[in-house]
Amino acid sequence: MPMRKTGRYESVIVGGEKVNAFVPFDLPPMRPALAIEDKLEHRLREAEQALVRLDLAGEMVPSLDWFIYAFVRKEAVLSSQIEGTQASLIDLLAFEAEEHPAANADIEEVTNYLDALAYARGQLAAKRGLPLSMRLLNEAHKRLMRGVRGSNKQPGEVRRSQNWIGGSRPGNAAYVPPPPDKLPELLGAFEKYIHADEKLPALVRTGLLHVQFETLHPYLDGNGRIGRLLIALLLEHWRLLKAPLLYLSLFFKRHREEYYRRLNRVRLEGDWEGWTDFFLDGIATIADEAVASARELFNLVSADRTRLLNTESASVSAIRLFEQLPRHPIVTVASTMKLIDASKPTASRAIETLTEVGILTETTGRKRDRSFAYRTYMECLRVGTDLFDRSPAGDQASNSIG
Ligand SMILES: Nc1ncnc2c1ncn2[C@@H]1O[C@H](COP(=O)(O)OP(=O)(O)OP(=O)(O)O)[C@@H](O)[C@H]1O
Ligand SMILES: [Mg+2]
Repeated sequence: MPMRKTGRYESVIVGGEKVNAFVPFDLPPMRPALAIEDKLEHRLREAEQALVRLDLAGEMVPSLDWFIYAFVRKEAVLSSQIEGTQASLIDLLAFEAEEHPAANADIEEVTNYLDALAYARGQLAAKRGLPLSMRLLNEAHKRLMRGVRGSNKQPGEVRRSQNWIGGSRPGNAAYVPPPPDKLPELLGAFEKYIHADEKLPALVRTGLLHVQFETLHPYLDGNGRIGRLLIALLLEHWRLLKAPLLYLSLFFKRHREEYYRRLNRVRLEGDWEGWTDFFLDGIATIADEAVASARELFNLVSADRTRLLNTESASVSAIRLFEQLPRHPIVTVASTMKLIDASKPTASRAIETLTEVGILTETTGRKRDRSFAYRTYMECLRVGTDLFDRSPAGDQASNSIG
């Protein structure tokens, strides 16, 4: 017996094959309603408190902007990796440091994610910007799907054909989302729920909306990434977090099998409680890890700054360059000239000083066109973003679904 019914099935013919597409009921969960009590209530408190700590960690540092810069990039890389994009955080930072970067489809996907997020946040913050809506998500999708891989995936448009998840054809799929003609109504209700008066806590609703979005699977591709972006937007929209400092994709990457299983269980068993428990655990875990990471980064930068200031040869230019490093952890002589508005010899000397103190390391091994990295800082930030690295407690990787 399922805990509750969460939708109905509709027979559709795809490619000459008859399959059952799932049409979910509108949110919120009903019969029985989702009750946040006992264990879930405890989980909710923990997640909310962890988010408050993360907000405070952001507020306590003098330069919140570089935490945002760093953590947003971390999330962009992680969210793109779930899809199988082979770009690492180091690749992204190196790409951004280059004067004439060469195009590369993996990096393009990550920078598209950054564009999509920046666009959506900009709209939400602007007086006359789009509200949190399908129109906004479609615009974000358009930016996400720009370029080589996405151009044939109807960028910015809700799908007009039947899709499926896992399997080589609909008949052996793990999941067949609703038929396209049902989407306008379903997405209308989805949007309405975002702005509805609801007594469920905002954090819980964020989790419900993510699942509903994945269940509707409104696009031909990029549903996972837009669904994860939606989480970031909702956290800000509902003021659960003032800045996008949570890289929750790390949790989904670490527990990918469980993540897919939980999504399935909502549909098959009506287990919204199990999903909510998992989701809140993810929020609390990653928020606490982000607090620890912010502290570590901050301590590292503070210690290096002290060391630099105690170095006799430290010029004003070297100190100014150092202050730019958290946002530009890879530099060249040319980029330094721009960053600190200096001549070539001054820029070179600033780099030299930071290299002597052990803050910068030359990375190319070349005599010309050299580039220098703030390596200890990048190492600190990189945790969890390596392609095949998983937490000790994580599930085994699997490509069976998605
Ligand atoms: N059984 C399932 N039921 C509902 N949604 C699922 C299921 N399995 C996977 N998903 C969702 O579908 C997403 C994959 O869909 P899609 O390929 O359109 O998105 P993507 O952004 O290109 O990929 P990815 O999320 O893997 O990075 C997964 O991230 C997950 O959120
Ligand atoms: Mg995909």
